[in-house]
Amino acid sequence: MARYHISSLILFLVIALLASPSQGFLGTKKKIKSAVFYSPKLVMSPGSVSDFYLLDMDFPRGHIGLKSFHAEVVDEAGNPVPLHETYLHHWAVQPHYVRKGAKLPQQEMLRRQDPKSNLYSASDIILVKNGGLCRSPVLRHYFGSGSETRNTSTYVPDPYAIEIDNPEERPDGYEFKWLLNIHAIDTRGVEDKTGCIECLCDLYNVTVNEYGRTIKPGYKGGLHCCYDKTQCPVKSGFGNGEKKRNLYLKYTVKWVDWDKTVLPAKIYIFDVTDSWKKSVGDSQEHICKVEYDVEPCKTNGDGCIDVKKKSLVMPFNGYIVYGVAHQHAGGIGAALYRDSGEEICTSMAKYGNGVEPGNEAGYIVGMTSCYPADPVKVSYEETLTLEVNYSSAVGHTGVMGLFHIFVVQQLPEPELSLPNLFQAPAGSVSVLAFLAVTVLVAVVVLIAAVIYRRQNREDGYQSLST
Ligand SMILES: *[C@@H]1O[C@H](CO)[C@@H](O)[C@H](O)[C@H]1NC(C)=O
Ligand SMILES: *[C@@H]1O[C@H](CO)[C@@H](O)[C@H](O)[C@H]1NC(C)=O
Ligand SMILES: *[C@@H]1O[C@H](CO)[C@@H](O)[C@H](O)[C@H]1NC(C)=O
Repeated sequence: MARYHISSLILFLVIALLASPSQGFLGTKKKIKSAVFYSPKLVMSPGSVSDFYLLDMDFPRGHIGLKSFHAEVVDEAGNPVPLHETYLHHWAVQPHYVRKGAKLPQQEMLRRQDPKSNLYSASDIILVKNGGLCRSPVLRHYFGSGSETRNTSTYVPDPYAIEIDNPEERPDGYEFKWLLNIHAIDTRGVEDKTGCIECLCDLYNVTVNEYGRTIKPGYKGGLHCCYDKTQCPVKSGFGNGEKKRNLYLKYTVKWVDWDKTVLPAKIYIFDVTDSWKKSVGDSQEHICKVEYDVEPCKTNGDGCIDVKKKSLVMPFNGYIVYGVAHQHAGGIGAALYRDSGEEICTSMAKYGNGVEPGNEAGYIVGMTSCYPADPVKVSYEETLTLEVNYSSAVGHTGVMGLFHIFVVQQLPEPELSLPNLFQAPAGSVSVLAFLAVTVLVAVVVLIAAVIYRRQNREDGYQSLST
């Protein structure tokens, strides 16, 4: 009977409203998967440098949402290796599409290639770039970090994740793969540890870069002087040969299977050396030098800080939900500001004070990451300023000032359900009030329906008895 249906439907709706778990809230929390992988071995001996690109690294496959990427260098027994033995200059992972059946260079060949020109221009490989801002392919990777990797959070907050390999976006005839770049420097027994990790060209006795081109005069140190198979001088008698060992990048990936409850987050990387200038207008490309030098301060003593700033125009409308900087030793921290001076996100360097892995004195062992309490709204073409601080008590070569952010376009819908309510912050009075009113209305409707039904039933008896 229709009227029975109406009242039970109302009852059902009220119960369903109270009991149903909210999709948006559950988002990514409930079903996070995790897996540990190892890179191919890095054969390291004192003073040696390994900088290689692996075209098809092990990675979770399929249409997934990445939640975090954590990495560290370990030995054959799986024990963490301290930075004062093997300095992890950086690792970076880059998704790309590879044409099915394509003959790609082996890892060994790849080492000697210019991955930035040859590799990416080949039609066999289509790079999947992050949101920006640098001119590709520089700094268009997804995740990347350096010495700070052990104690830096890369977690994408719930209910967001980085969408990977959406089948609708994959070009026909291509497969989704991951590229891994690892750059490590073995500093056991070296003459000058700081010089080795800051890649001083004179120390490495290098005059041509990786691709055989002469290094520009005035370039004192950086990536162009500590490429794969270069050698940093080792103290005589340290015993090179027998100290050779195999190391691995151990990486832990967390992810969720993609579905409509997961909201996509996009990655952007800002570089303080970006050439873009507002006065020149949008047409100028973002040429990112990636590295720069910090001159030692003239006044010797404390309070010597090198502050570098870059204002950039944002190419998105959205909300910043995470931020973290990447710096080298000497770094103090970095921050993002609005034009008004409002600080949006800050990431500070953490230094170790011991010898054990994760706490090595003199090295950046972590960067604090920023998880704004409320997602930070940024409008299209809004100008944000990146500020990067280094100690200039002594000079530094080849340092970096990068800032990674996660941006979401869509915030979760406020959901009305009990599980949600219990976990809602104390301040969400409006949700409570709305729920209370909804329940009240439902109860009133229910009572009205019951009364209406009773009256109808009496009418019905009357009509029967007559
Ligand atoms: C950093 O180290 C501290 C102390 O060991 C630890 O409590 C924290 O969880 C670490 N953070 C990350 C992101 O690894
Ligand atoms: C530096 O390189 C030059 C040529 O590239 C070589 O002649 C010289 O012996 C090297 N010096 C050292 C200390 O290795
Ligand atoms: C950078 O240094 C300047 C000058 O000392 C200071 O005002 C600013 O707060 C510092 N920023 C960060 C992120 O450390």
